[in-house]
Amino acid sequence: MGIAEVAGLQVLSGPSFSRSDSSIKLPAKYHVKIQKNTNSLCVQSLSYSSVSRCVRSFRPVRVVCGVFERNNVRDRDLSCQCQRAESIGGVAAEDEFGTWNVDKKKVSKNPVNGEVNGAKVLGVEEARELKDEKKRHVSNGSSVESIEDEAWNLLQESMVYYCGSPIGTIAAKDPSSPNVLNYDQVFIRDFIPSGMAFLLKGEYDIVRNFILHTLQLQSWEKTMDCHSPGQGLMPASFKVRTVPLDGDEFATEEVLDPDFGEAAIGRVAPVDSGLWWIILLRAYGKASGDISVQERIDVQTGIKMILKLCLADGFDMFPTLLVTDGSCMIDRRMGIHGHPLEIQALFYSALLCAREMLATEDGSADLIRALNNRLVALSFHMREYYWVDMRKLNEIYRYKTEEYSYDAVNKFNIYPDQIPPWLVDWMPSKGGYLIGNLQPAHMDFRFFALGNMWSIVSSLTTKDQSHAILDLIEAKWSDLVADMPLKICYPALEGQEWRIITGSDPKNTPWSYHNGGAWPTLLWQLTVACIKMNRLDIAAKAVEVAEKRLLQDKWPEYYDTKRARLVGKQACLYQTWSIAGYLVAKLLLANPEAAKILTSDEDQELVNAFFCMIDNNPRRKRGRKPSKQSYIV
Ligand code: GLC
Repeated sequence: MGIAEVAGLQVLSGPSFSRSDSSIKLPAKYHVKIQKNTNSLCVQSLSYSSVSRCVRSFRPVRVVCGVFERNNVRDRDLSCQCQRAESIGGVAAEDEFGTWNVDKKKVSKNPVNGEVNGAKVLGVEEARELKDEKKRHVSNGSSVESIEDEAWNLLQESMVYYCGSPIGTIAAKDPSSPNVLNYDQVFIRDFIPSGMAFLLKGEYDIVRNFILHTLQLQSWEKTMDCHSPGQGLMPASFKVRTVPLDGDEFATEEVLDPDFGEAAIGRVAPVDSGLWWIILLRAYGKASGDISVQERIDVQTGIKMILKLCLADGFDMFPTLLVTDGSCMIDRRMGIHGHPLEIQALFYSALLCAREMLATEDGSADLIRALNNRLVALSFHMREYYWVDMRKLNEIYRYKTEEYSYDAVNKFNIYPDQIPPWLVDWMPSKGGYLIGNLQPAHMDFRFFALGNMWSIVSSLTTKDQSHAILDLIEAKWSDLVADMPLKICYPALEGQEWRIITGSDPKNTPWSYHNGGAWPTLLWQLTVACIKMNRLDIAAKAVEVAEKRLLQDKWPEYYDTKRARLVGKQACLYQTWSIAGYLVAKLLLANPEAAKILTSDEDQELVNAFFCMIDNNPRRKRGRKPSKQSYIV
């Protein structure tokens, strides 16, 4: 394929860039060797220098149609492979566009639902029921079938191509809105529901491409004002740019340009990206049956790099991950710095997923030991100290403070006055939840939906706790679901609290956006959690609520007001993860077994360790026999 033809393979669905686009920042100096042959084009970076002093050190992964040159890579394949790339795992092979094709012969039967390559065979009865349900009309007259069809079409249109192959989905694609900010990028966290929808539909290539391409970005050398974050960091988002090829007036090339937070509003670090990446990797293997991807050396290294970054020693006293504000779905100042629940739930889930996928080899024994220890300590910490229900609330209300000792009951020195007045009325007698954050002398009692849902999905909470969270959702339906599922957090910060905690953020005004707004995308996480606990009726009811409005409201990013009655003030329309979240919820409700690609069952060893630690905890003596196994925490 000649250059001209390669240039023709632009981003089909995403934005394209003209050569005169001044926003494109290219590496200041690089020498490229262009090699043409009939089947492939190889551009190999030979040397680089920084764009300017300490600004952005551009030693990019120069990616031209799937040909990679990696910098600072340890045991990964560095060579520029102009011909067909050889598979490290032995199963995968790249085509000339850098798409990794699965050797169909080696794809095993789907372990979840017995599908082979995504084709699920429904029984006659099942098929009829599904058809009837789809004919149901929602209040505005559209049939469920037409809503789903539109959602699929939009999801298809949101696909971003790189050298002719799909590698992700754009965050939002509203044809009527010129102000896109960075919503024209592929966000890692936003792609997860899209990836799930594709996996559930048996379209594996886009997910595989996404996993492998984002992995390449992991080793990108990134700096912000001379400082580099840890090497295992995954970007928040990336963009496919079409840029002029140096030295050739008529040729362009496509490059992947990641954002690790160095361009993001507030310069927030996307701590959740790597955790989601690991979760998606496991789901891909389970759905497709193709475990060759997770077995590849570069993928194994990628997993280890993320783990090393998360498990690195620091000043922490707690097993929870210490992060700055805005390091996850809530990616701006909202008072969630410290040990926010969402990150802890994803961390726990990613540790479990990684443990399943890591090849046991001599070199990884220490890492696996550290991982196991962390799992035990983290689950104990979260179940014990983040949990609130009526009983615990009463316990906190009567806490003694200033306990200097090893066997303090009120370990974090929480002053009972911190219990917010709204909570005493709000807490149902049946139900409970994990609080948003825990720090010395500080409990953030807000309810955060994603963290609670994912704690159920990953079995971070006990069975009783998981049921109690769903009880709470049922009991507080008019606050958490109301006219659109699901509130990102409850309640909103108002008045002086809003001024101090958000810094008077006009986008996060009370009951808007991250501050008590309702996010349709959260429907899929709610659905997985409900399926895990066999309480599908809750998810089905929430989907019905969403179905009444999503299509006519043009799939908004979020809704505002206490009851989620208005489309969000600054919400993007045609937000891809609202579309994908709805589709995943529908697909899973139609085939609940498939949720297993995301859920983790409670590990017996962890349960034993948990009770062993409870027995040693002064707060609660349960009188169980201590386990013989000891754990270093
Ligand atoms: C907003 C959200 C973030 C999301 C991004 C793209 O910044 O807070 O979670 O990833 O939009 O949709």
